[in-house]
Amino acid sequence: MITNSTYDGLCYDTVQTARALAPSTPRLHFDEAWFAHARFHPLYAGRYGMAVGPDTFEGDGRPTVFATQSTHKLLAALSQSAMVHVKSAPRAPVDHHRFNEAFMMHGTTSAPYPVIASLDAATAMMDGPQGEWLVNEVITEAIRFRQTVVRTGRRIADAGDRLPWFFGVWQPDTVTDPADGTERLPPARAAGRVAAAMVTVTPPGIPVLMPGGALGATGGPVLRYLGALEAFDRAFPGLHSEAHGVTVDPDTGDYLIECVREGVQVT
Ligand SMILES: Cc1ncc(COP(=O)(O)O)c(C=O)c1O
Repeated sequence: MITNSTYDGLCYDTVQTARALAPSTPRLHFDEAWFAHARFHPLYAGRYGMAVGPDTFEGDGRPTVFATQSTHKLLAALSQSAMVHVKSAPRAPVDHHRFNEAFMMHGTTSAPYPVIASLDAATAMMDGPQGEWLVNEVITEAIRFRQTVVRTGRRIADAGDRLPWFFGVWQPDTVTDPADGTERLPPARAAGRVAAAMVTVTPPGIPVLMPGGALGATGGPVLRYLGALEAFDRAFPGLHSEAHGVTVDPDTGDYLIECVREGVQVT
């Protein structure tokens, strides 16, 4: 099961992913809860599950691919509506009748017809050239929004008449290849480093770090926040924070964050 895309918009080259995983699995499942729009714009060509087919992956090794999409999220359908897409491969064939029966075992017998009708409406909206047009409009708006955020931040910094703080946009300057080496460091030694894994603190369950993200300076928001959680855990043993992606040193109680080794950077 592969989450594609992630919450912050990282998406996979799905054909390459399928080639890499095919030797070890006959079936792949892409969780595309946030990616139902990908099929409709060339920006995402080859980046969504259903792009893995006989035309892009020749030979007997191709896995059967499932993609589940929350149509209600990034297309225009009612809440709770979703789709399961299946691209069956001879290696692990899917009998559609059986699949549907199995699916029904886990669903309600009182189907909400307005929800189902909204799936048809969402499909019709994306059919033909208007699908690409709609997604293109959203992408253009998103780029304009990012440019405005950056411009506003610069204007505030240049004016110099108030604290030089404003929202930023996430755009890593460099991309790192984790195969080149990572190490686990306590927050006190992680200043200036690049994260190699996601760190999500619950609540609120929103990532504070993504792979490739900068940890920032010692007094910066990320390291101060993680340092505060670490201090809390030490002060209140047994009530420790829920920090996914952080390893706790069993001897010292130090938080350890997966960082890219120094000097490893691929632009
Ligand atoms: C990655 C991911 N997968 C699956 C789901 C579940 O989606 P649904 O709302 O269609 O149940 C979510 C919901 O937020 C999600 O973020």
